[in-house]
Amino acid sequence: MAGRIPQAFIDDLIARTDIVEMIGRRVRLKRQGHEFAALCPFHDEKTPSFTVSPQKQFFHCFGCGAHGTAIGFLMRYEHLEFPQAVERLADEHGLEVPHEGGPANPHTALFEALARAQRLFVAALEEADPARDYLAKRGISAAAIEAWGIGFAPPGGEVLLRALGREGVEEKTLAAAGLIASGASGRYDRFRDRITLPIRDTRGRVVAFGARSLGDAKPKYLNSPETPVFHKGNFLYGLFEARQRASRLQRLVVVEGYMDVIALTAAGFEAAVATLGTAVTETQARRLFGTGAGEVIYSFDGDAAGERAAWRALEQTLPSLAPGREIRFVFLPAGDDPDSLVRRDGLAAFEKTLETARPLSAWLIDHLAEDGVGSAEERARFTGRFKPLANRIRDPVFRDILLSAAAERAGLPLERFERLMRGQSSGPGRQAERAAPRSRPDSRPGSESGPFDRRVKWLLRRLLSEPAAIAGQPWPQAL
Ligand code: UTP
Ligand code: MN
Repeated sequence: MAGRIPQAFIDDLIARTDIVEMIGRRVRLKRQGHEFAALCPFHDEKTPSFTVSPQKQFFHCFGCGAHGTAIGFLMRYEHLEFPQAVERLADEHGLEVPHEGGPANPHTALFEALARAQRLFVAALEEADPARDYLAKRGISAAAIEAWGIGFAPPGGEVLLRALGREGVEEKTLAAAGLIASGASGRYDRFRDRITLPIRDTRGRVVAFGARSLGDAKPKYLNSPETPVFHKGNFLYGLFEARQRASRLQRLVVVEGYMDVIALTAAGFEAAVATLGTAVTETQARRLFGTGAGEVIYSFDGDAAGERAAWRALEQTLPSLAPGREIRFVFLPAGDDPDSLVRRDGLAAFEKTLETARPLSAWLIDHLAEDGVGSAEERARFTGRFKPLANRIRDPVFRDILLSAAAERAGLPLERFERLMRGQSSGPGRQAERAAPRSRPDSRPGSESGPFDRRVKWLLRRLLSEPAAIAGQPWPQAL
């Protein structure tokens, strides 16, 4: 068992959390004077008696008496024990939960193995001429190699496995850290004959690697799998490094590739980060603004795939919209990525492209209206597509502004349009809304569940964590 979580950490975690934002991601809140109100997620009701106070950083339900802090909310809402709720919240802030006394944190061994692997890769690059040549050919300087901790995973298949084994690292730790994989022929190094790029957490610890082949070997990039210390959707390549360079980031550019981040930084660009080969997630979007940056620019390839990726980024960023935050999108000329553009034409050329970036609001409406908003059918389609997006926006000011712009484009009076957005219309759409349980709106698709599902989930979680503890227990009130 891990030791006790220090109270100071818990206090700090609660202080860092905006309870309105956190609950607002799970329950639709409406401003009511100084507080926010909603239908209580913990009991059935027709009129809202659940309130959240930003001043007190507390929630309270006048109907069922449920109340507590952000952690208390997570425990009830996600059916977690206290330590798990702390873990969950800490994870959202990119923090690791410390434990007093007791045995070491279960993740320590993984971090240690990853740090050892990083040292091995860096040392191996010194010896590997083909890898050094490859980097030189791509214009990656010695300074960049050092700044990014670029290394080389030797070929063979058991180099890391043996070397770290000699250092006393257990195979199961290497496997858990994603450093070795197993197949029919047994265990082998996951990364072989590849340039390695360490991915770091907010404290600078290596949590994973991206690894590029030197030539045409497929896949071009191989990434660490999901591990207890690495959830792809929570990390951004280059974020730790960007924060090291500047304590307060004004502007953050999100690009598609590792090499784009490295090339832009080498050219003197202040802050670029990349997702890890996957679509932008809501957590990543939140992280971007968690740096305090006022402006985030998403830069995508100017092809159809780039546009699709940009649209997904837009959807995931809507919940992070707030006054004082500017989000823009830019598409590079076809055939270019930031790396090739900067190396050929210099940083000024990239800066110039950034000037063409379009604000989220404008791009959103234009994109939806692309197929026309002339006929009644087109206007209906526009309105239908806009609705789920509008409902992802939590900031009331931004929502109002975007709604009026969209209403104008749809050629509908604002009041009528707003009512449509709330689903107060007749027809099948309204029916579907009624059928969905309103008490637990949740932005994650597929997570909506009835009481039966919730009970099954609760039971499974408890069975896995504390099988002995649940015998003879009643269902929690919320189930
Ligand atoms: P790109 O192919 O645009 O990467 O893929 P890049 O950085 O421009 O690659 P090179 O080295 O200059 O040719 C964008 C991102 O998608 C992920 C990686 O994170 C990459 O940086 N990716 C791509 C993979 O994970 N696996 C792949 O096989 C390819
Ligand atoms: Mn590239």
